[in-house]
Amino acid sequence: MLTIALPKGRIAQDTLEIFERVFEKKFIFDDRKLILESGDFKFLLVRNQDVATYVYHQAADIGVVGLDTLEEQGLDVIRLLDLKQGYCKVSIGMRAGEKLDFSKPELKVATKMVNITRSYFASKAVSADIIKLYGSIELAPLVGLADMIVDVVQTGATMKQNGLEVVEDILESTTHLIANKNSYFFKKSEILDLYEKINGAI
Ligand code: PRP
Repeated sequence: MLTIALPKGRIAQDTLEIFERVFEKKFIFDDRKLILESGDFKFLLVRNQDVATYVYHQAADIGVVGLDTLEEQGLDVIRLLDLKQGYCKVSIGMRAGEKLDFSKPELKVATKMVNITRSYFASKAVSADIIKLYGSIELAPLVGLADMIVDVVQTGATMKQNGLEVVEDILESTTHLIANKNSYFFKKSEILDLYEKINGAI
């Protein structure tokens, strides 16, 4: 039996479709249920930001999560496979027309991804004042809370609607299949079997 943590929403749907293709059966969660058991699999529906936590603590053997979230959390899990879905970028956004100027003292950067932001600015040897927000990041430069934001960009519509534009890309992200290290050791054949099947299906 393999337990697989999926993030609620579109990624869960896309991932279940891959499983349905591979195993030629339907995997459908009953209304509001968070666990689905079917054959050799138990699927868990969790928040996107919680997938790697379930896997890291071995409450799930396998998980599906965006590379952006993985990089931000830095938990020690095995990255098995790039599912090549859920494409997005983590980018720096500024008010339209403004230029990124690393020589400015104390750049103020608003983001929910503080670790990615910190290592990016450190890699440029730039000191930045990182302001942690939990959402509506695009608002920060509009009201003087920050000079720029680091945020997830999918279609670019949210930035555009708020008069911001991307000035630099930091990371390209797609969903990844991850595994717990112990599970990978003790359930290696099951996990590799699943890996092969999914790899063949994408
Ligand atoms: C992200 C991000 C932007 C938006 C970008 O938030 O913070 O607000 O999506 O998408 P777009 O480029 O297609 O407009 P998300 O929907 O992931 O919500 P979150 O606040 O829960 O992270």
